[in-house]
Amino acid sequence: MANKWFETVAVAQRRAKRRLPASVYGALIAGAEAGVTIRDNIDAFSEIGFAPKTAGLSATREMATRVMGQDISLPVLISPTGVQAVHPDGEVAVARAAAARGTAMGLSSFASKPVEEVMAANPKTFFQMYWVGDRDEMAARMERARAAGAAGIIVTLDWSFSFGRDWGSPRIPEKMTFQEMLRQAPSVVTRPGYLYQWLRNGVVPDLTVPNLPVGGQEAPTFFGAYGQWMQTTPASWEDVAWLRSQWDGPFMVKGITRVDEAKRAVDAGVSAISVSNHGGNNLDGTPATIRLLPDIATAVGDQVEVLLDGGVRRGGDVVKALALGARAVLIGRAYLWGLGANGQAGVENVLDLMRSGIDACLLGLGHQSIAELTPDDLVLPPGFTRRLGG
Ligand SMILES: Cc1cc2nc3c(=O)[nH]c(=O)nc-3n(C[C@H](O)[C@H](O)[C@H](O)COP(=O)(O)O)c2cc1C
Repeated sequence: MANKWFETVAVAQRRAKRRLPASVYGALIAGAEAGVTIRDNIDAFSEIGFAPKTAGLSATREMATRVMGQDISLPVLISPTGVQAVHPDGEVAVARAAAARGTAMGLSSFASKPVEEVMAANPKTFFQMYWVGDRDEMAARMERARAAGAAGIIVTLDWSFSFGRDWGSPRIPEKMTFQEMLRQAPSVVTRPGYLYQWLRNGVVPDLTVPNLPVGGQEAPTFFGAYGQWMQTTPASWEDVAWLRSQWDGPFMVKGITRVDEAKRAVDAGVSAISVSNHGGNNLDGTPATIRLLPDIATAVGDQVEVLLDGGVRRGGDVVKALALGARAVLIGRAYLWGLGANGQAGVENVLDLMRSGIDACLLGLGHQSIAELTPDDLVLPPGFTRRLGG
């Protein structure tokens, strides 16, 4: 059998592109409008250089850390993504991979697998919530996550609903019916590996959202859930503080780009924030998160755990984020490419690449531990950082 190991995330992406139907691959690319932010998330990491040492390097390197109360073996977590149809085992495969590699994950409230199944695969799972419905519904969803044993809550607020893409959006059906399967057939039959994997499991992607219903309702379709979300009044900071008061444990707000909002999050009592622009899927033109991190970390890094997500594709990116003040990073598309290319083993492969990349950077920079990383390890071009708000 062919060796399915891949040597970089870019290789995994190419394999995922070959293996997945075009509509599924396109849903993972996502992005907004002209794709300025998606590109900047990646390009900004490339603008940063390293200042390596050559002699006196450390024979051992340490990268274990603790995030939101969980001990993790590397400073890389799985970011919550609401994607369907990439793999029959979906988020359960991702959870198993994260557990096998000793790290934590966020489970999207728009995920394809129920929180109970994912928790059973990885107890280090945080449940991610959007602000959908009223406070009673939010509390009921949280209660379900608590009963399932969720290790923490992630609240994501940076979403603005609209946005076409200049490169075109994939067709996502309301439901996977027989007619829809026929319509998708031409793109799926050219992907035999993908097709076989679903046939072997005897299921078709059902495109429902099992973590959103409360009070014994049936799982809504993706678009049904999306519609309810669009009709919900967006959360205020008082709502965030209220939600936080309902959860006795680690609590993250994901989607902070501004210094003034990082401070509001601290005031709302959160334990962690992720500096995030939703992977370039929200307002196009938002700067890369790595440009925003230094000022936010300086402002609130001694009061809450500061994480970053957006554009992380290799261990060196992780090291750059840590040197600029992040405690850890979350990855999105990187593991989705791994999942698309080779299921659970592909996600493990991506986490292994992150680990070996971090290790190589620590060695080259002459450090014994991620705790020793500072901006002195990097070469930042003039005017690299951006400070938004306050
Ligand atoms: C296809 C896709 C679906 C996503 N769904 C969610 C989601 O349901 N909840 C959420 O908080 N973030 C979601 N995100 C954002 C990711 O959690 C993360 O912020 C982003 O992917 C990081 O950028 P990266 O993909 O460059 O690593 C999604 C991102 C992608 C690409």
